[in-house]
This record gives sequence, structure tokens and C-alpha cells, in this order.
Amino acid sequence: MSEDSLLLLGQVLDIRSNPFDAPPDTAAVHLSRGGLLVAGGRIVRVGDADALRADAPRARVVDHGEGLILPGFVDSHAHYPQTAIIASWGKRLIDWLQSYTFPEEMRFGDPAYAAEIAERYLDLLLAHGTTSVASFCTIHPASVSAFFTAAEARNMAVAAGRTCMDRNAPDGLRDDAQAAYDESKALLDAWHGKGRATYAITPRFSPTSTPEQLEALGALWAEHPDCPMQTHLSEQTDEVAWVRDLYPHRKDYLDTYESHGLLREGAMFGHAIWLTDSERARLREAGAALIHCPTSNTFIGSGLFDTARAMAERQTVGLATDTGGGSSFSMLHTMASAYEIGQLTGTALHPAQLLWLATAGSARAMRLQDRIGTLAPGSDADLVVLDLASTPAIAQRHAHAETIWEAVFPTIMMGDDRAIDSVYVAGQRVARGGAGSDTSHNRPVNPLIADTLGL
Ligand code: GUN
Ligand code: ZN
Repeated sequence: MSEDSLLLLGQVLDIRSNPFDAPPDTAAVHLSRGGLLVAGGRIVRVGDADALRADAPRARVVDHGEGLILPGFVDSHAHYPQTAIIASWGKRLIDWLQSYTFPEEMRFGDPAYAAEIAERYLDLLLAHGTTSVASFCTIHPASVSAFFTAAEARNMAVAAGRTCMDRNAPDGLRDDAQAAYDESKALLDAWHGKGRATYAITPRFSPTSTPEQLEALGALWAEHPDCPMQTHLSEQTDEVAWVRDLYPHRKDYLDTYESHGLLREGAMFGHAIWLTDSERARLREAGAALIHCPTSNTFIGSGLFDTARAMAERQTVGLATDTGGGSSFSMLHTMASAYEIGQLTGTALHPAQLLWLATAGSARAMRLQDRIGTLAPGSDADLVVLDLASTPAIAQRHAHAETIWEAVFPTIMMGDDRAIDSVYVAGQRVARGGAGSDTSHNRPVNPLIADTLGL
């Protein structure tokens, strides 16, 4: 192995197959003194530390000690333009959109503001261990360019798209079917496949699009079938009733998308809580993804997504923050919230299942599972290293853990950005935090400051 290869040592948790299909100890391999060999930005091999050292004697070694090396977290549904209005009080979906979201999204006509928030948002993601995201932008092309530019500067694999709306939105945030098609296509041509960027065709949701606009975006998707398509589906009961009024000839909410060519593999439906049996069956048959947004679903009061049921139906499921309807940038918080909702719906999700949803599950929803979300050789080396004793409260529980699952679960339930020891994007170490470090809490880590180790 050449000198420019990198050997990361620590504990390694490699969840190799879907832990909803097999017992977690079968699906996952835990190496208490393991490592990852990285070269050219990709994972070459995972194994025991001593064996890897012997195989790659000239690799540069970074020893993370007891740190737990995992794939970087993948957030499969977020709105970066809502960064500055996260944790806004007291509204439910439609009111929340009108009171907080739309006024803030109006500001993204200003390219300088869009760039400032895109950079702030991606720095926050990295500080929380999230290395990939599927984000909505706003109607303004500048909001999309700003986001992809900021992601490119950090070499992050992101999906994003221009959020299209041609009704039920204020002046300044509405387009029409032709503008939605033309401007989405121009951005898709400019960004899709550039570096690590993926363009996602993005109708906001059926209440803010006319059938003509959904048809135009369905046509664009047919011309670019390898792109993902992201939108919202059946988040709140009032919203479902509104869709019924707006689309009286459609048999249900899903049909408003399906009848315009917006249901097939590669579709990512945020929330997807209030579904009929027929909708569930059609989603499953199409291979579309349901994106679970647990902190948002509790914060905005939407309802309880039944993860165990969706997995038993063999749906494709991703996990997401839904920033800023969601109340956190952290996929650790998001896993904790998914666990609590699992308890309320009758199933205690195993830590392996939570971690899998936050990595491989979301990557699969984005159809990027061959690139990100696992430690499989050949994958991009997007990694997070967790400190499993990042606060006194977590450390005292961790101290008497007897299995890796008991060791990691307190961090899932109680951890935040202080638990993020290190982050690697395509093999480059970009952020350092961790317990006791003054870069850890309330201070975004600037990922553009290369690590002093020169990685
Ligand atoms: N439905 C349509 N737009 C949005 C949004 O911005 N956030 C959430 N949570 N739901 C939506
Ligand atoms: Zn959303």
C-alpha cells in the first residue's frame, strides 16, 4: 500500500447487512481494536488493527483510541434554508409554513444570504457528524447554486434541488409549470454529477403545486431518471384533507404524484405518516422511499411513523432531521427520537437498527448506497468517530456497559455534537471536537481548516 494511504485505528462497528432482516449480532461486526485502511478517498479494507498495520506498514496512522468509527451520518430529508428558523414556537404545519418558513425562504433571493446560510448549515452538519444530506432549497436558483457551491468546497456528497411552488404560496415564492421545468433543468444540467453533487427534482408538495406543475416535473424526471425526486407526503391530517379538496379527481394523496409520473424508485417521500393500505402497497411496489422525520413529527405535532411496520412491509426507509421543522441538526437526537416513537408504536428499535437507518438506510433511500452509508470496501471514506463517553452523564453509564450495544446506546440517547470526536469526508479529516475540547460545544467547527495532522 502506498505512502498516501491512511490507517485509522479505533473501535469499528461495521453493520454489513440490514439489521431488520437478521439479528443485530449477525448483521454487524464489532472490532474492539480495529481499523480502516483508506486510499484515494475510499475505504480499502476493514479489519483488526494489527493485521492492517502489518498489511500497510507505510500508511500514515491516526489512532482514535477508544473512539468508535462508523460511516458518516446521512440525513435524507432537510431544508437548509430553514436553518435560521429552527425551533420556532407554537404552530402546526400549515401555520408554521406561513408564519415562519415562507418569510425566511423569501430571503434566499439574495445570493449572499443564501451562501451565508448554506455554509453555516453544512458546517453545523459536519460538527454533528453528518457527512451527506438531501436538502430542499428555495424557489430561487441562487439558493441551489449556493448550496452546491458550499458542498463542493467541503467535498460533501449532497443531493439538493430547487423547491417548486406555483400556488398557495406568497408572492415572490411562486413560479409556474414552465419556469419550474426550465429552471430545474438548468440547475440539473449545471450540477448533477458535478463532483459529488446529485440534483434532486423537488416539488415542495401537492398543495403548493398545480397538476400542470407536477406534470412538468414528472416529465423532467422521465428525461433524467437517475436523479432522485424529493417531496412531502401525508405529514398531517389537515394537509391530507386539503389535498383531497385540491385534487378531487385523485383517489388519494399518493395518486397526486403517481398520476404525474412522480412515483417510482428514486422518489423520496418525507414523513409519509397518514397512509392508506393502498398507498402503502403502491409505495412498496414502486420501491419509493419513506423518510422518517421523528423530531419534526413530534415538534410540529404531525403523528407517529411506525418504523417496525414499514420495515416489516419491506418499504425503503430513510431517517432524517427535517431541519427546521425538525428540532435538531443531530442525527444522534434523530435516532433517539426514532427510538422513543418506536416505543410509542410498540417496538423498541435496536441500536443497530437506529444506526443503520441513519447511515445505510438513508443512503439507500437516496440510491447512493454504493458510495456512502457503509464501511464496504470501495465506498467513499465519509466517516464519523464517536466519543462514547462525551459527557459525565454518558460516561458513567458507558462505564458499566457489557456489550457494544450497551456502550453505544447512551450516546444515541443522550449524545450531541460533543460526542463527535472526528469527521472524515472522502478520506480527509475535516473537523475535530470531542469531550473537553473547546471546539466542541456551541461553536461550529470550521471544516475548511485542515487538520493539523495534514490529512
Ligand atoms: N410540507 C411542505 N413543506 C414543508 C416543510 O418545509 N417542512 C415540513 N415539515 N413539511 C412541509
Ligand atoms: Zn420537509
